[in-house]
Amino acid sequence: MDWTALEALPRPTLSELFEDRERVAKLAAELEIPGGAIRFDWSKTHLDDAVVAAFERLAEEADFAGKRAALFAGGVVNASEGRAATHTAQRGVGDVVDVEEAQALHQRMRALVEAIHGGLLGEVRHLIHIGIGGSALGPALAIDALARDDARVTVHVVANIDGCALEQAIGECDPATTLIAVASKTFTTTETMTNAASALDWLGDSGVEDPHGRVIALTACPDKAVEWGVDETRVLPFPDTVGGRYSLWSSIGFPIALAMGWEAFAEMLEGGAAVDRHFRDSDGIANLPLRAAFADLYYAQVRGCQTRAVFAYDERLRLLPSYLQQLEMESNGKRVTAWGDPLGGASAAVTWGGVGTDAQHAVFQLLHQGTHLVPVDFLAVAAPGDALDPAHHRILLTNCFAQGAALMAGRASQDAARAYPGDRPSATILLDDLNPASFGALIAFHEHRTFANAALLGINPFDQFGVELGKEIAKAIEGGAQRFDASTQALLAAAGL
Ligand code: F6P
Repeated sequence: MDWTALEALPRPTLSELFEDRERVAKLAAELEIPGGAIRFDWSKTHLDDAVVAAFERLAEEADFAGKRAALFAGGVVNASEGRAATHTAQRGVGDVVDVEEAQALHQRMRALVEAIHGGLLGEVRHLIHIGIGGSALGPALAIDALARDDARVTVHVVANIDGCALEQAIGECDPATTLIAVASKTFTTTETMTNAASALDWLGDSGVEDPHGRVIALTACPDKAVEWGVDETRVLPFPDTVGGRYSLWSSIGFPIALAMGWEAFAEMLEGGAAVDRHFRDSDGIANLPLRAAFADLYYAQVRGCQTRAVFAYDERLRLLPSYLQQLEMESNGKRVTAWGDPLGGASAAVTWGGVGTDAQHAVFQLLHQGTHLVPVDFLAVAAPGDALDPAHHRILLTNCFAQGAALMAGRASQDAARAYPGDRPSATILLDDLNPASFGALIAFHEHRTFANAALLGINPFDQFGVELGKEIAKAIEGGAQRFDASTQALLAAAGL
């Protein structure tokens, strides 16, 4: 991609850009979704008419519209693996055959969820959900965000191979009323299969007669789950065209449905579908995920920003930054295009972040006065999630908006240590309310933003070969291989391995 046209454009400051009285009307928009409106305010970024026009030309050259059409039509958008990417079909938007398949698999999941609620597997109070990466981050985020007060089943997500993770979960569960979900697209991931085996040992050692009878498998490889010992009736498959980091809409979302009920899960899908339709049907700057991608790429490619930060000013969304890290960095952290050519610029920025207001008292110093320019996303919810004195939520929101204002305005001072340079960009996403539908919309927005970034960069966002080499070396070490570099050998020896 040739960024020279963008690089050559004038660079007005944010204060200069705000001389345009229409700026907020132009760059802040509300999307009506079933769970209430979501406001996407990109006015405090350096997007202006000239930058947007240049990006719209780039989008045309990159055949953004063609790639998007292929995504929704079930075309092979994941060329390196010869596959479609059908996560939108899980939400009911996509090729008719993919949508029908998704609906049939959802019916199967719904039947099992409702049977468990009805007592099919006896009293169930806990679910240990074992999975890693895309098989864990979505369920963990959704449950933490949406099922804090009224979960029908308490879900414990275990990802790490470190036995401390599983030990903590089993320490909080009663074996007689606990089910185990083994969530793995491939059903081969070392961490997941090792944790699953140990969880079954725990059930067996605790006197549960048929530990395998307590397992629900969530996978794109149902045969492997059956071979591992899970009865076919408790295997919930999903299509292999649903990528791990795009899979919370599929049977990987089983713990969400079990904890919150099918209606809530269906509302989450509907919220995602509303954003799918917006993304599919809007063009240019009016397309909100594409607009966000324009800003992302402007900062990464033109202003040299190596990172972007996301701060959720809502405790319920505290896991969102780590969810987005996988979504964005595993999708777009690539140095070659889908055709194998060097990118000719930066790949996706490093995504990092935290929760507000905590982060203000920890890392915001660098955002305001450091030498790095870091575009920031602020996320907030207008309706409070707590029942305490309304002062809590008021202070939370005023702090969120104050930070964006301060980053932009800065403040001059004779004392260099006290001066704020300002002109630092941010975007704000404000949800009317946090509920399953608005949550689904928020996640789908980020999926499409990631896709739009990839389409403009020419990246295939649906493969992840970069994760393989380290796994292979770990397996070689486990298998007894000994010829490594001197540092690695010394570390192995020092750890007694
Ligand atoms: O190693 C990375 C990865 O393959 C992710 O892409 C994926 O979400 C995760 O591991 C878990 O994989 P699986 O669902 O196959 O266990």
